[in-house]
Amino acid sequence: MPTRLKRSDRKGGKRFDRLSYADFRRMARDAKLSKYEKIGFPDHYRADYEKAIFRDILLKLPKLLAKRQVVLDIGPGCSDLPRMLIDLCRRQEHRLVLVDSMEMLDLLPEAPFLTKVSGKYPGNAKAIVRASRQYDVMLCYSVLHHVFVDGNIWSFLDRSLALLGAGGQMLIGDVPNVSKRRRFFSSDAGIAFHRSFMGTADDPTVRFNVATPGEIDDAAVLGLLLRARNAGVDAYLVPQAPDLPMANRREDLLLRKP
Ligand SMILES: C[S@@+](CC[C@H](N)C(=O)[O-])C[C@H]1O[C@@H](n2cnc3c(N)ncnc32)[C@H](O)[C@@H]1O
Repeated sequence: MPTRLKRSDRKGGKRFDRLSYADFRRMARDAKLSKYEKIGFPDHYRADYEKAIFRDILLKLPKLLAKRQVVLDIGPGCSDLPRMLIDLCRRQEHRLVLVDSMEMLDLLPEAPFLTKVSGKYPGNAKAIVRASRQYDVMLCYSVLHHVFVDGNIWSFLDRSLALLGAGGQMLIGDVPNVSKRRRFFSSDAGIAFHRSFMGTADDPTVRFNVATPGEIDDAAVLGLLLRARNAGVDAYLVPQAPDLPMANRREDLLLRKP
C-alpha cells in the first residue's frame, strides 16, 4: 500500500470524499484530471496497484476464468481495471455489459462482445435486462459507498440479486467500512501506519459512539449480508489481499447464488 501520503494530497484528499454519480459524470469530462482522478482516486492509490486489485478480483470471481460467461460490471470507471476486464472477456469469449454514465463509458474502448448501458444503476435495470436476463458474474468495485451517498443500497442489492443467475457470483468490492477503519486506527499497527503515512508524531483521531452520516459501517455491511442470505443467496464478508492500497479499512462482500 502507499507508504507515505504526498504533501499535496494531505490537503487535497478531501476533494475525493462523498462523490455522487453526478460528480463522476462531471469528473469524466474534466480533461485536467488523470484517469485515476476521474474515478475519485489520487494517482498513487491506483497507478501501481490495479494489477494486484485485478488478481484479487479473479480469486474471488473464479467464473471469470471459465469460458463463455455473461458478465456485468456496474460502475467500471475509466482506468486500467475495466480494460483488464475487457481483455479477459475477449480471451475467455465472455459477453460483457458495462453500466456507468455515458461520459465514463465513452472513455472505454468498444468491442463486438461488449454492450454499454448508460445511466444510474439500479434505475436503468430494464436496459440491463434487455442486454441479458441473467448474469453469471457481476462485479461492482469501489462503487457501493457512492450509492450509499446518493442512492438506495437496499434496492441496489435487491436488483442485483435478481440479475444474478443460478450458480452466479457477484463481488461488491472495495467497500470502505468506518467501523473497520476505527478498529484499525485504534490498534498499535494502525497508529504506526497513521504516523508513517501522514508524516506526523500525532495519533490518529478515532471517535466511537458517534453517528457517521453518509458512511458505511458494520451495521450496513452486515445488514446487506443478512438480506442477501434471507433472499436465498450465500453471502460472505471477505478481506482484501494485503497488498491492496486500502486493505486495512476496506472489505469485500461476496455473493454466490446456489
Ligand atoms: C470509484 S469509481 C470505481 C471505478 C471502477 N469500478 C474501479 O474500481 O476502478 C466509481 C464508478 O462508479 C460509477 N457509479 C457511481 N454510482 C453509480 C451508479 N449508481 N450507477 C452506475 N455507475 C455508478 C461512477 O461513475 C464511477 O465510474
